[in-house]
Amino acid sequence: MEHFVILGGHPLSGVIPISGAKNAALPACVASLLTDEQLVIDHVPHLRDVSTILSTISSLGKRVVRDETRVSIAGGADLRCQPQALFVEQMRASFLVLGPLVARLGRAVVPLPGGCKIGARPVDLHLRGLRALGAQVREEGDSVTVIAERLHGAKISLPFPSVGATEQIAMSACLARGETVIENAAWEPEVANLVDLLNKMGGEIEHADGSLYIRGKGVLHGARHAVIPDRMEAGTYLIASAITGGDVTVQGVIPEDLRSPLLILSEMGFKIEETNEAIRLAPGDRPRPISTITAPYPGFPTDLQPPFVALLSLVEGTSTVEERIFEHRFTYTAALRKMGAMIEVNERTAVINGVSKLHATTASAPDIRAGAALVLAALAARGESKIDNLEQIDRGYERMVEKLQGIGGRIERVS
Ligand code: UD1
Repeated sequence: MEHFVILGGHPLSGVIPISGAKNAALPACVASLLTDEQLVIDHVPHLRDVSTILSTISSLGKRVVRDETRVSIAGGADLRCQPQALFVEQMRASFLVLGPLVARLGRAVVPLPGGCKIGARPVDLHLRGLRALGAQVREEGDSVTVIAERLHGAKISLPFPSVGATEQIAMSACLARGETVIENAAWEPEVANLVDLLNKMGGEIEHADGSLYIRGKGVLHGARHAVIPDRMEAGTYLIASAITGGDVTVQGVIPEDLRSPLLILSEMGFKIEETNEAIRLAPGDRPRPISTITAPYPGFPTDLQPPFVALLSLVEGTSTVEERIFEHRFTYTAALRKMGAMIEVNERTAVINGVSKLHATTASAPDIRAGAALVLAALAARGESKIDNLEQIDRGYERMVEKLQGIGGRIERVS
């Protein structure tokens, strides 16, 4: 089995290029189901999750051509209504094919999704949205069957601004008859990037006052699109800089998308410098402890919570982090405790008492972001750590070893 061998205790320094955003690339690939014409998507990262979504849509009858970071998707006159369970079980984002398939074919049968084990992660809001658009939804065992002769516009008020439900409903509503309003819609940069693509495909979607207004169309057409930079990857490497006392610049980013974590890192005393497309994090004052909560965008992103807790475990004083998005997102703290961190978890809040050093460990990456947190902790710890279950890290971080080596990280992938 492959694992990372990481020799910690060396400050990272240099420039690290940032890839396209996983969470924007996945729905963009799914949007190809809304048309038979060609969709050309640039800046698509090479990740396991992207391969999984491309296999999912290929299994549905689309033709996919991949060339470096460009993906061209075409065809689909004989689209199938049921993706292979194997793909959907691997990754929750595959469930997004449900609405577009119903909108195109009038029927879809999709297994209930898998993905990171970080909470119950139900799909009730996705299904509630499709029901409001006029679909009949039947949950049978491990899969969902959805039928609709033609979807119609509706007003849908989400009790929580779910990213996936907003994307599912927005894509479906583009091909519905009449206007759809999604109140309390998610407006993460990745959702905005999808809306931008849908509009390029001939959709008519506007965002105002927390709602999406979608005018349904008979058909959508092909388009060219670029995936935005990955704010989670950029945030992870900035935190890697902070935890190792390093001086790292992430290149090819949209600093505005990272506003909340940047504010917090600078409040903690780190020196942050920005240009239009780059962010540098260097040591500043002695780092101070802090309290924060995760929240929908523009709040502190839940996906950066695990790397951030790893950082706080080495910041003198008491910090707290409250997890408001996913209920089981602190399980990785057991591995950090094994490294010497002092972290107590009470329901949804982690109380972190900073220690002066962590020691090396052997651990398994539990999910994408918790895996990254363990890598960061190992880069800061004294001695040689081993991290396995790399499939999780490969789902969300493109060429992590090469990128970290490029800024002086002593990390290797070993079979
Ligand atoms: C997406 C991101 C993920 C990120 C998350 C929150 C992708 C592929 N993944 O996940 O990296 O951590 O947004 O920013 O884009 N919920 C329900 N019912 C539903 C849907 C969601 O109760 O039908 C709950 C979930 O259990 C969770 C919360 O809403 O507690 C947030 O989920 P959601 O915003 O939907 O996240 P995902 O789209 O799964």
